[in-house]
Amino acid sequence: MPLENTYSEEKDVARSTQGDSFIIKGLSGEHTLEGDISVSGAKNDILKIMAGVLLFEDAVHIENVPDVLDVVALSAILEEIGMSVENIENGIVLKAPKQAHTVLPKDGAKKLRASVVLTGPLLSRYGSVSFPHPGGCVIGARPIDIFIHSFELMGGTYTQDDTHYTLSAPNGLHGADIFFPLASVTATETLMMAAVLARGTTIIRNAAMEPEIQNLAQYLIACGANIQGVGTPTITIVGGELLHAREKTYTVIPDRIEAGSFAILGALSGKQVHITNCNPLHIRSLLDIFDRAGVAYEQDETSLTLREPREPYRSISVRTHEYPGFSTDLQAPLTIFLTQVQGESLVFETLFEGRLRYTDDIVRMGADITMFDPHRVLVRGPKKLIGKDLEAPDLRAGLAYIIAGVIAQGTSTVRAARYIDRGYSHIEKRLQKIGVDIVRA
Ligand code: EPU
Repeated sequence: MPLENTYSEEKDVARSTQGDSFIIKGLSGEHTLEGDISVSGAKNDILKIMAGVLLFEDAVHIENVPDVLDVVALSAILEEIGMSVENIENGIVLKAPKQAHTVLPKDGAKKLRASVVLTGPLLSRYGSVSFPHPGGCVIGARPIDIFIHSFELMGGTYTQDDTHYTLSAPNGLHGADIFFPLASVTATETLMMAAVLARGTTIIRNAAMEPEIQNLAQYLIACGANIQGVGTPTITIVGGELLHAREKTYTVIPDRIEAGSFAILGALSGKQVHITNCNPLHIRSLLDIFDRAGVAYEQDETSLTLREPREPYRSISVRTHEYPGFSTDLQAPLTIFLTQVQGESLVFETLFEGRLRYTDDIVRMGADITMFDPHRVLVRGPKKLIGKDLEAPDLRAGLAYIIAGVIAQGTSTVRAARYIDRGYSHIEKRLQKIGVDIVRA
């Protein structure tokens, strides 16, 4: 399905006036969903190359652009710092300015965590960057100590006032041997990009290995960067000159979190749900959970099919982990799945201490979930869920609420749709196509 890809603040407003809630009529556990559902480009891929354009001398054309609010928000920040952002027929074209404003707008940058990724290319190319604490989903503390420490190792100097952090390196950054105490996704992307224009060699140890990082690095390499080891925990970057796209297009990879969430929905309510435009290899950890829980699926290189189960699903304990382990971004949808399986399942959220709070609402819907501490819950199933009035606490839990609404008995309202729109493109229209009774109101 071709997705719309024209962005503007007007469109943002138009969408919110269309309604900030979803109303879902539940299937009471029936398996009736049927048809094809297409996966969009990944939010957490496109946002990083949009920042990466700051490493380029020439314009970068990005395709498979998801129509999501985070792209609108980042486009606005980029325009404010001087980048040109142009919507074209099959994507967007961005071009970095010769001189950029290196103070990130406070309101814009607080809207999304990915704004922090701008710090690497800005500091390394333009010699300074000031930015507020980056916002994004409220799922835990989300500190930036790894970024600051790494920039200091590369020769950046750091100051802080009431509203902004400031880093400067008027003579450019130099290479460094950096060890990350945690395999942070955005820190890996940010420091890798900073190192592309730094003098000498940078080694990032205990780097994150997410597919989005690999896609970004492969493109930078194709455009002249010297990066080795991406997809392993040790990345080595030899710094050099500005990169040249020379009309090589950046293709955003399919959103693995969306694919995984659709697969969970298919397992719970599908008669036959065919998920297209995805890469099942990127959700290998979820498919392993499916194998052990007894979920039947068929896959090829770009699609996944879920069918009605022949026997009840089995309980399974899971812990979130950096890629290729089970993604924290799929934890909430999977917990909804576990409310419907036979027996007790332990869910251990290892990354973010605020990412199980949503379970209170699922308990209100009738689930049997006990929280041991902010990182661990026990789910006992199966329990029938009853439709409720809910408010999406963040993007990923928001989609989990929609899934809960689909399997529940009766009607659910999921408010604060704007969080879901941050990362999922026209979700209600795509779900309607496989038979979900969902409207925006
Ligand atoms: N951390 C620190 N210090 C830092 C940076 C991170 O302690 O300076 C900690 C975090 O608090 C967390 C762990 O490191 O405990 C890993 O977090 P990471 O930095 O990898 O998360 P992130 O880069 O902020 C990205 C995604 C998240 C996704 C996580 C984990 C983007 C824009 N965001 O966040 O996506 O959950 O990686 O995979 O890429 C979402 O899309 O809804 C979302 C929250």
